Amino acid sequence: MQKMNEGPVIILAIESSCDETSCSISRDGVILSNIIAGQAVHEQYGGVVPELASRAHMQNIVPVVDAAMKKSGCTMDQLTAIAFTQSPGLIGSLLVGSQFAKSLAMSLKIPLIAVHHMQAHVLANLIAGAAAPSAGSVAAAGSIVAAGSGGEAPLPSFPFLCLTVSGGHTQIVVCHSPLKLEVIGETLDDAAGEAFDKSAKLLGLPYPGGPLIDKYAKEGNAGRFSFPEPQIPGLNFSFSGLKTAILYFLQEQKAKDPEFVQKNLADICASIQGRIISILLNKLKKAARETGIKDLCIAGGVSANSGLRASFRETGEKLGWRTFIPAFQYCTDNAAMIAITAHFKYLAGDFSPLTVSASARAEW
Ligand code: KG4
Ligand code: ZN
Repeated sequence: MQKMNEGPVIILAIESSCDETSCSISRDGVILSNIIAGQAVHEQYGGVVPELASRAHMQNIVPVVDAAMKKSGCTMDQLTAIAFTQSPGLIGSLLVGSQFAKSLAMSLKIPLIAVHHMQAHVLANLIAGAAAPSAGSVAAAGSIVAAGSGGEAPLPSFPFLCLTVSGGHTQIVVCHSPLKLEVIGETLDDAAGEAFDKSAKLLGLPYPGGPLIDKYAKEGNAGRFSFPEPQIPGLNFSFSGLKTAILYFLQEQKAKDPEFVQKNLADICASIQGRIISILLNKLKKAARETGIKDLCIAGGVSANSGLRASFRETGEKLGWRTFIPAFQYCTDNAAMIAITAHFKYLAGDFSPLTVSASARAEW
């Protein structure tokens, strides 16, 4: 039995797909709170250890939900729905969030909303006041604004293109409407985030290496070392060849000078980052040409990369795109993106039964 509320739509959303435990509260599509607890325990292992991630979610979830509720100023009896990341992700991690969400929805007798993590990354661009538009966009204000935003925030107009770049996925998506998304290109092997993290590992940097490559690249010369751009047909990507090229390059250089990495870290990072960015943006340009779409977004953890953000903007200015990037805190994993997606699902009456199960893999 579900209680439907006639007042504002207040959603409690949980994200626990990987190594961040997050809870967000939204009211009518406006984010009131977004609490994120990271898991430092994985650093020493050079990657996320699934079992440790599940245990950390178990420890974090109650305090994180509590903090999100307090910050929002809402009370449990005001909530209209509970949302959670259903897939894809680490199954043990997903189970913690999904079981918590189901229990809460059941005890409060309110609807449960299952959210796809990759759809949520894309829709982070629809969080009112959070997506940072390019300079030209403010005047040209998009006709679509999130419900309850007051209409002031420019958001991308449908259909828009989104390059979603995370630790597990790399996709080009046409977003026809919040609930109708079409994947038109994706990676055949490693994701862009993995290309960053695996390159960082080869350089002896701790996990996650993406933000560290970003940091060192700021001081480096991206033209110093040249890495190959794979020739993959259509709008698909491949990053495994790049990783191998970097491995051989480093082996060769270290044979000549064991301190090669330490002496050239900034230039190596800038060159690797530059190549990953050009692979991503060349495919995005192709997608924009082929679809004729002029509103372009980026999303996912790698969209926090300062080099990608700057090159995306520059490319957009040259090619007459309106460019949108989620605010920094909505790029990497967060529950606010689950809340905004759940908001649109709530409006469409797209609820899930309590029997819904979390799933490590999911097509969409
Ligand atoms: O979206 P996300 O937080 O989690 C997944 O859904 O996978 O993405 C995590 C990925 C990691 O590979 C991480 O290294 C990368 O995003 N990342 C970055 C930066 N910040 C996070 N990569 C490059 N530069 C950054 N500043
Ligand atoms: Zn993610």
